[in-house]
Amino acid sequence: MKLSKSNTDRQAAIDRSLTLELVRVTEAAAVAAAGWRGKGNEKAADAAAVEAMRGEMGNVHIEGRIVIGEGERDEAPMLYIGEEVGAGDGPQVDIAVDPLEGTTLCAKNQPDSICVLAMAERGGLLNAPDVYMQKIAVGAGYPAGIVDLDQSTRENVTALARAKGVPVSEITACVLDRPRHAGLIDDLRSAGVAIKLISDGDIAGIIHAVNTEDTGIDIYLGSGGAPEGVLAAAALRCIGGQMQGRLILDSEDKRARALKMGVVEPNKKYRTEELASGDVLFAATGVTDGSLLSGVRYRQGSVRTSTVVMRSWSQTVRWISAEHRR
Ligand code: FBP
Repeated sequence: MKLSKSNTDRQAAIDRSLTLELVRVTEAAAVAAAGWRGKGNEKAADAAAVEAMRGEMGNVHIEGRIVIGEGERDEAPMLYIGEEVGAGDGPQVDIAVDPLEGTTLCAKNQPDSICVLAMAERGGLLNAPDVYMQKIAVGAGYPAGIVDLDQSTRENVTALARAKGVPVSEITACVLDRPRHAGLIDDLRSAGVAIKLISDGDIAGIIHAVNTEDTGIDIYLGSGGAPEGVLAAAALRCIGGQMQGRLILDSEDKRARALKMGVVEPNKKYRTEELASGDVLFAATGVTDGSLLSGVRYRQGSVRTSTVVMRSWSQTVRWISAEHRR
């Protein structure tokens, strides 16, 4: 394989064998959560994923530290921010997890519930507080800065359409279906843009906006969880595309929480590389069937899982279908 210049310039900081170890971690979480599909119990589904993820992470040869997890130490028994994870005999890495992204989707057995984990060199992931983040993302191949959080929706979609060489009416945007996005949706519709509304799961939504050839989605817009924004940026570091994120710190309490986590510029517009920098790995396993991944399938004597795992250094993306004996 021909290595790109950026690969040859710099040694990979994270051993490539860790890539497959991460797959076991998200697989374990997905199998545990799958037992709660359609049971209407979001908390139990999340707890099962958290416990399985943490258990399997204990076998991974890293000195890991959770920087994005289930919350502060006093509010989460496992995978809390600052928790040390891993077997303790490998590289020092930072870890962001969303053990069950789309808890409601899992509880209702709806598409696109996934288990997600990203790993980076120490200091490589923004320590984002659990607040909303304004997000915008497009695929690879466009000039840097083609879309910008400080431009209007119309300016962004017009610039994107021009760069793509199509009329704005041929642009498709992905947006979380929320009342807070009513204005955004009106602006997109009045510009003639087609909208794919999703009920939850903006990590998959952002990945879809970058995989335009497979999904037909050109741009992701709107606000969602800041932790999910960092995880999506980790994926984009591996598959390309551009993203910007800005924390929504609209109260004294949120600004204080952010400051405690090291955010000194509350209005900063973070680029992909500022959300997730250096050598980054990303893995996600499907819980329910979705447009990104198939869900967990129970078979006679076995369980089948579907995972995507990526590495920024090599930009390799592996789609792994695994059969686990029960
Ligand atoms: P959960 O798995 O925590 O339920 O998050 C699902 C999700 O849709 C995220 O993908 C998204 O970032 C966030 O919720 C949006 O938050 P809200 O539901 O408050 O609009």
